[in-house]
Amino acid sequence: MQAKLNHDTQAGAAVYTPLVLKIYDWWVLEFSNRYAWRCPTRSVLLPFFQQHLSANHLDVGVGTGYYLAHSSFSTEQKVALLDLNRNSLESALTRIAHLQPLLIQEDILKPSGALGHQRFDSISLFYVLHCLPGNMPDKAAIFELLHRHLTADGTLYGTTILGGDEVVHNWLGRRLMKLYNRKGIFGNQHDTLADLESALSRYFAKVSVQQYGRVALFTAKLSA
Ligand SMILES: C[S@@+](CC[C@H](N)C(=O)[O-])C[C@H]1O[C@@H](n2cnc3c(N)ncnc32)[C@H](O)[C@@H]1O
Repeated sequence: MQAKLNHDTQAGAAVYTPLVLKIYDWWVLEFSNRYAWRCPTRSVLLPFFQQHLSANHLDVGVGTGYYLAHSSFSTEQKVALLDLNRNSLESALTRIAHLQPLLIQEDILKPSGALGHQRFDSISLFYVLHCLPGNMPDKAAIFELLHRHLTADGTLYGTTILGGDEVVHNWLGRRLMKLYNRKGIFGNQHDTLADLESALSRYFAKVSVQQYGRVALFTAKLSA
């Protein structure tokens, strides 16, 4: 059974108003990734996204749809977009409307079953975990859900900004971490690479995690 949490999941999604989404690509993907999290989008995160993208893809936590908008697709491409926030779904939709994506408005930590019995060959989870409240073991509820929507040979992959004592953020990163965690935009003060690996390993037989700057990049498959 899907574990349900009592944490408030709204703050990590509500911040994505149409205005915030207008500046998101510049502020988060260009500026913050380069100068605060030290993990550039174009040379590290975008190639990682494209590397695991399949012709039957689910993107969870879509933001502005930047990664999909900068990828190329097969003629048979199927894309589903899942997000708690309608603004994010619409923002991503405008960029990849030609793919006629399926839109699913759902809280990934408190799912209502909107994914039905669908399975995907690839599921991306970019910059979602650090927006969620709770510790990594709480957030593992996501992996419990998503592992049931992956095909036998499919790949779940994603990225998340780390916190925890062993992650040394620079001056800008420390300021942003403090502000965002105080406002509930982030919930990653205790998120470590080791806890991420162990949360993934509860549901997946083959797990890989690596750190670039202050960001964890991970892949997970059902069979080894
Ligand atoms: C930081 S943005 C990431 C956007 C994009 N994936 C990227 O890497 O640039 C986080 C996205 O996750 C969504 N989100 C946050 N909490 C969520 C939840 N509990 N369930 C579903 N989506 C959520 C937000 O609405 C937002 O679109």
